[in-house]
Amino acid sequence: MTAPTLSQEELRLWSEWLAEEYGLHFGPERRDTLRNRLEPRRAALGLPSYEDLLFHVRFHPEREAERTRLVPHLTNNESYFCRERGTLEVLRDAVLPELRERLGAGGVLRVLSAACASGEEVYTLAILARESGLFAPGQVRITGIDLDPCALARAHAAVYGEHAFRGTDPAFRERWFRPVGDERWEVRPELREGVELRRANLVDERWWSGLPPQHVVLCRNVLIYFGDEALARAAEGLHRVLAPGGALFLGHAETLRRVGTPLQVERRPGAIFYRRSEEDA
Ligand SMILES: C[S@@+](CC[C@H](N)C(=O)[O-])C[C@H]1O[C@@H](n2cnc3c(N)ncnc32)[C@H](O)[C@@H]1O
Repeated sequence: MTAPTLSQEELRLWSEWLAEEYGLHFGPERRDTLRNRLEPRRAALGLPSYEDLLFHVRFHPEREAERTRLVPHLTNNESYFCRERGTLEVLRDAVLPELRERLGAGGVLRVLSAACASGEEVYTLAILARESGLFAPGQVRITGIDLDPCALARAHAAVYGEHAFRGTDPAFRERWFRPVGDERWEVRPELREGVELRRANLVDERWWSGLPPQHVVLCRNVLIYFGDEALARAAEGLHRVLAPGGALFLGHAETLRRVGTPLQVERRPGAIFYRRSEEDA
């Protein structure tokens, strides 16, 4: 049986719902992409149309389970180690030393990778903190959150192929990973200590409420897809989750300008980031 077409009206209904629910953007130019991504779930459920599938994920008693199955088809989990190096260098050379001083000798640094995909950013941050020499093992807690449960499962497994290392030199892989065969490498166990992964939707109200205040937040290459409403909700959470004095780094192409934020902009050669002021408690 051939797959049905995704009508103009269905495209509109799906786009609105995905933007509202997850911040995911599927404009008219991505009609075929959206159809291809919905098709496996429509076929598996034996539903006649994409409108029926939408009805199912919105109103069926088991909609949460179905959403969990559908989301991995819709997200773009592209990531790699040491992505956007300029940001990481500013974090390592300017922000971490200052936070080290502020936290005092025994203080624990809390770092959040928001939209962590398969964990490349989480382990990059763990390595960065180690290589900075500023924090002893056990003094850094890193939390990775993502909408996509399959990406989080890969982050848990912490095994990566060649592609994930394209932004690094061989010494990086040699030092922090061990080969597990078949051109794949596993994160060394000591880097996984202090790492926690959990599912969260940046568009949900109060998505940050279960998290302790974070000294550093990276939220990169996800907000670029969000419309104004989703961005405003995510921005509110990014502000709330930061500890006073904490720093927020977005992707190179991302900004909160469109929605406004009480966070202050700081510029350093190589990166711009946001800071929650000490007085904003
Ligand atoms: C392109 S990856 C970015 C990964 C990493 N931050 C980086 O820059 O390499 C985007 C990630 O955002 C996640 N994502 C999309 N919408 C989300 C939402 N509403 N809440 C949480 N994560 C979301 C996707 O599942 C995907 O893993």
